[in-house]
Amino acid sequence: MTMIVPEVDYGPLASLMGNWAGDGGMDVSPEPDGEDHSPYYEMMMFEACGDVDNAEAQELIVLRYHLVAARKKNDKVFHNESGYLTWCQASGDVVQSFVIPRGVGVVAGGKAEENRQGVVIEVSASLGDDDYGIVQGPFMRDNASTQSFTRRLEVSGNELSYKQTTVVDIYGRVFDHTDENTLTRQ
Ligand code: HEM
Repeated sequence: MTMIVPEVDYGPLASLMGNWAGDGGMDVSPEPDGEDHSPYYEMMMFEACGDVDNAEAQELIVLRYHLVAARKKNDKVFHNESGYLTWCQASGDVVQSFVIPRGVGVVAGGKAEENRQGVVIEVSASLGDDDYGIVQGPFMRDNASTQSFTRRLEVSGNELSYKQTTVVDIYGRVFDHTDENTLTRQ
């Protein structure tokens, strides 16, 4: 069987395509009595996915991605994320839709900006937002509810870096769960 991914102009998403790895990650995550700071390493894979048409009016250019992060201390994978990045040439909008194994799904939206250094993509989503929202099962809703997500990602040549904040309502408080890393093209 042969499947053909149409040749399209990936615009600002083109610079992401390929495999990336980086071992300078830092995660700050919630603990019942405080917070944990975990250095991590990570791999990201972005691949061409062609285009989709929505309601015969919107044309989106699509990349599929997967990222895996492991704690340096014990090499245990502690974050996994699968999703899509889309770019609408007409509006310039970028949407990042993804799920994580905890049973949380995010559809975050924003823009891509191309400058002399490369590309900057900023997206965000909030629980209950009509435009870009978050879905989670009842356990997570009641015990570790994701309130919002923001990610700023920069690609410059063979370097990709990001910073993100996931606000989580957990252990009776609202916690800024943050992650950042810099990866290089493999
Ligand atoms: C590189 C990215 C990320 C890393 C390395 C990471 C890692 C962690 C770690 C270590 C914890 C503490 C609990 C545990 O050890 O499993 C945690 C908790 C949590 N993370 Fe993340 N995370 C990342 C991104 C995200 C994202 C994007 C979301 C949601 C959109 C998210 C949602 C949560 C939630 C809801 C919790 C609380 C669950 C709990 O502690 O029981 N995380 N994360």
